[in-house]
Amino acid sequence: MGALKTRKHVRFWLNDKLVELGDLSPTQNLLDFLRLQSGLRGTKEGCAEGDCGACTVLVGRLSGDDLVYEAVNACIRFTASLDGCHVVSIEHLRGEGGKLHPVQEAMVALHGSQCGFCSPGIVMSLYALWMSQPNADQKTVERVLQGNLCRCTGYVPIVKAARRALENGGQSADPLVNERTQMLEKLFALHDGARVEINSEAGRFILPANVDDLAQIFLDKPDATLVAGATDVGLWVTKFMRDLGTVVFTGHLGELHTILEGDEGVTFGAGVTFSEFWPLVHARFEDMGGFWGRIGGEQVRNMGTIGGNIANGSPIGDTPPALIALGAAITLRKGDKRRFMALADYFIAYGKQDRSPGEFVESISIPYLSREDQFGVFKISKRRDEDISTLCGAFRLRLDGANRVKEIVIAFGGMAGIPKRASNVEMALKGMEWNEETIALGMAAFEDDFTPMGDVRGSAAYRMLSARNLLKRFYLKTQGDLHELTRGAL
Ligand SMILES: Cc1cc2nc3c(=O)[nH]c(=O)nc-3n(C[C@H](O)[C@H](O)[C@H](O)COP(=O)(O)OP(=O)(O)OC[C@H]3O[C@@H](n4cnc5c(N)ncnc54)[C@H](O)[C@@H]3O)c2cc1C
Ligand code: FES
Ligand code: FES
Repeated sequence: MGALKTRKHVRFWLNDKLVELGDLSPTQNLLDFLRLQSGLRGTKEGCAEGDCGACTVLVGRLSGDDLVYEAVNACIRFTASLDGCHVVSIEHLRGEGGKLHPVQEAMVALHGSQCGFCSPGIVMSLYALWMSQPNADQKTVERVLQGNLCRCTGYVPIVKAARRALENGGQSADPLVNERTQMLEKLFALHDGARVEINSEAGRFILPANVDDLAQIFLDKPDATLVAGATDVGLWVTKFMRDLGTVVFTGHLGELHTILEGDEGVTFGAGVTFSEFWPLVHARFEDMGGFWGRIGGEQVRNMGTIGGNIANGSPIGDTPPALIALGAAITLRKGDKRRFMALADYFIAYGKQDRSPGEFVESISIPYLSREDQFGVFKISKRRDEDISTLCGAFRLRLDGANRVKEIVIAFGGMAGIPKRASNVEMALKGMEWNEETIALGMAAFEDDFTPMGDVRGSAAYRMLSARNLLKRFYLKTQGDLHELTRGAL
């Protein structure tokens, strides 16, 4: 590697101004930066944990040669991670001739706002949709609003306002749409290939220049905290007031966002977000579609990464059970050494993963389902949208010509201290005829695999009963009987 340039400040566009920050805490969030430092108080603070969407702003970032604007939660987005981006707050919205923006106009006309506290966030979420998918259907409107809570208006007028704004169009007159090419050029000009390194009284953080640089930095500083989408780490700061020490940001690294579709399967960087992976879900893993739409809300899906979901080792992360059942593997990298392992082997015990200091998850590989495979993944949570799983079960089944179980992989989250395979249930089913009697045998074997804990999300007994019933549910799905039972529930 040639000599690397180092920059001592972060720079990004905020609405129509270029911002340069040299003395910046790694954990200062964008919401505070907007409200307290920039005097832009249109963006509101509700929960400060990524849940309510009152703080929604748009972040435009380069994706290959394109500029992508996404709704994000400013309360858990660290300002430092915005290097090279375009931040758009509600103050930047305007319609033709100084009028309200079409999205705002529709919200007013259709009574989409009462106390108004949630309204800027809702307008920003709808603005992102209006700009990127002018033909969005009702389902899509509802999906993009999953991460915006409104306590007083109710969603009917808001959804109607969204429909009206989409119908009215007007995108060709929108400044952000019109100035896209100029902004693209401005952002390219900010990407100078330098490492950003700030060591000030406010704290220390690094934005590596590329993945090789990340590997070297993390080898040298294995105690540093890696931050990808910050949808977990952000809360360590806003809720638990944790000091993260030296922070190494990874979300800007294009290499970690690559997706390679091969003949046998897909390999993608650990920094691929839930939203970036969505087209792959539609194209290759259709049975995960409903489930994918229940991970976080739109803002969390735009920020949160699959690598972060795996690396955090959470027993209730949603993707590990599904990916284990699909037979996924991960590549871990330390310096220039790489190792490859089945995802199931990565999780050792609660809070313990097979990852040594200085090592990070670089990529994830998932084989495609074969024509004989049947797959299902089911999430149980207290709230349908934007809620963490109480438990999550994933199933991949292959039958032989005589309707016997040739292969079955079952993995659960929320049933143990780690995402875990139900090996005894699998054994009870293997070689047996795929029918209700066999399912009953499988359901009885769950106690050999799991001793779940009870907590605020569900008692141990509830978890055990639900897990057993999910096996039944998967069976019904394979029989084509699930539709009537779960219409709209997944
Ligand atoms: C409102 C809200 C709703 C949520 N809903 C869901 C949900 O429905 N389902 C669900 O599963 N999760 C949910 N989450 C949790 C979170 O979004 C996910 O766990 C997400 O995948 C974390 O990814 P991230 O990139 O934001 O991780 P970060 O917060 O950046 O990091 C998480 C952890 O992973 C480490 N890390 C990140 N990348 C790497 C890497 N490449 N190598 C090694 N370590 C790494 C970090 O150091 C940290 O320890 C929700 C969070 C919020 C705030
Ligand atoms: S303030 Fe609630 S999501 Fe940010
Ligand atoms: S209008 Fe009051 S919270 Fe939505």
